[in-house]
This record gives sequence, structure tokens and C-alpha cells, in this order.
Amino acid sequence: MSPPPPRWFTALSKLFGEYKNANVMQLATIAEAVPQVRSCIVRELISPNGNERLPIILTTTDTRTPKVEQILANDTVQINWWIEDSMDQFRLTGKVSLVPEPRHKVFHSGGTLAFERLSTRGFDWEAKRVQVFDSLSGHMRASWYRPTPGSLMKGGYEEAKDWPETVPTTSGATNEKEKKLVEQALGNFALVLIEPTYVDWVQLGTSPNRRTFFHRGYDGSWTETIVVP
Ligand SMILES: Cc1cc2nc3c(=O)[nH]c(=O)nc-3n(C[C@H](O)[C@H](O)[C@H](O)COP(=O)(O)O)c2cc1C
Repeated sequence: MSPPPPRWFTALSKLFGEYKNANVMQLATIAEAVPQVRSCIVRELISPNGNERLPIILTTTDTRTPKVEQILANDTVQINWWIEDSMDQFRLTGKVSLVPEPRHKVFHSGGTLAFERLSTRGFDWEAKRVQVFDSLSGHMRASWYRPTPGSLMKGGYEEAKDWPETVPTTSGATNEKEKKLVEQALGNFALVLIEPTYVDWVQLGTSPNRRTFFHRGYDGSWTETIVVP
């Protein structure tokens, strides 16, 4: 039997499943020594079969956003995830893999043990990318069809009126025009897979409050340290 998942992941998975609003976290990257933080939606928590102690946090992005370049330049990221319903804060530091459309190369940093193990076993990341794309709302899919995020809108807010409001799923396009929408949106869509190696879990819902550090070793094992909150 493979070792169980780390305790922080068991707790986080339970809260993620239990609370509808527990899916927004703050993702920090670095741009030339300046921290850059933004909200991202967690789409899935992956606990690889047989490698349960190496969980992955899955979010998505547009490959044209600055965070992608920042990750390519510095592959350590930090997530701050506050779950208001239970009053838990998880600060997760980890390594990242990016799965863009197949024309671009998959990126993964050193130390992405789960990503590497799954890839070795033949896990189909492109199929996963398409599955996640299809699982989102049509409005959400349309966000990957827009011009480059952060680029100037010469016509002001009015320009957005020309953008499609929805984009179909990969199997839902009924004509050439819709197929083009899907192709372009899916082309900008990427999975961002974060593998925590260090976790700082603060429990404000307990009395007295609790704080625990978790470190992942090179072999994938976790050590747990109870600290003063
Ligand atoms: C609640 C919320 C959720 C968001 N989720 C995502 C997300 O999952 N992925 C993403 O790339 N951007 C998401 N965004 C937008 C980002 O916060 C950010 O504005 C955008 O991605 C540009 O980031 P960058 O310029 O730092 O790369 C979200 C914004 C909000 C307010």
C-alpha cells in the first residue's frame, strides 16, 4: 500500500469539497524581484493513484498572461488560500508545471515529482487539458478568445462588445465559425499544476488556534512540525 496523503491535503480536500466558495486562492509569482499576486480558481485537487502523498493543485490560465512568463523565469510559486467558512489558511509553496496546447512545450520545473511520475506512467495531459476546458462554462471559455490580456483597448470598454459571449465545448461546435472560436480559445488555454513542497497551515477555527508546518523531502515523504500560531 502506498503511503497516505499528507494531513494538510486530507484537510484541504475535505474543505474544498464541502464549501462552495472555497475555490479561490491567491497565487504569487515573482517578476524581477517584485512579487506579483492575483486570484485564481482551483479547479481540481489531484491525488495521484499510488502516489497519494504527492498531491497537485490544478488551476488554469491564459498562456499570454504575464504570470506564465514569470513562472518560466522562476518556477517557485506561493499560494495563499483562505477558507472563510472553516477559518483555515493554507500557505503553500511549490513547484509548477504548465500544460499549454501541444504546439508549445510542456514546462515542468525540477522537483515536480508527481507530474514526473504521472508523465512516466503515460498520463495524458493533453486529454486532461481538453477535459478541463470542456468542463468550464461557455462564458469562461470565451475569456480565452479575447485579445491578449493586459493589452491596450484603443476603443475603450466599448471594444468588448465585439467579443463573443460564449464559446462551445470541443465537441459542441456546429459550424466553421464556432470551430474557429474553440480552436483559438483552446489554443490560449493552459493547465497550471502546482506541487506543494512546503505548507504552513493556520487553523483559526480551533481554540486555541493551531499552526503546523509541513516539509516534503526529496523522496516525497512529509515531516510535520507544530509551531506557535
Ligand atoms: C475571483 C477571481 C478568480 C480568478 N481566477 C483566475 C484563474 O483561475 N486563472 C487566471 O489566469 N486568472 C484568474 N483571475 C484573473 C487574475 O486574477 C488576473 O487578473 C489575470 O490572470 C492576470 O494575471 P497576471 O497579469 O498576473 O498574469 C481571477 C480573478 C478573480 C477576481
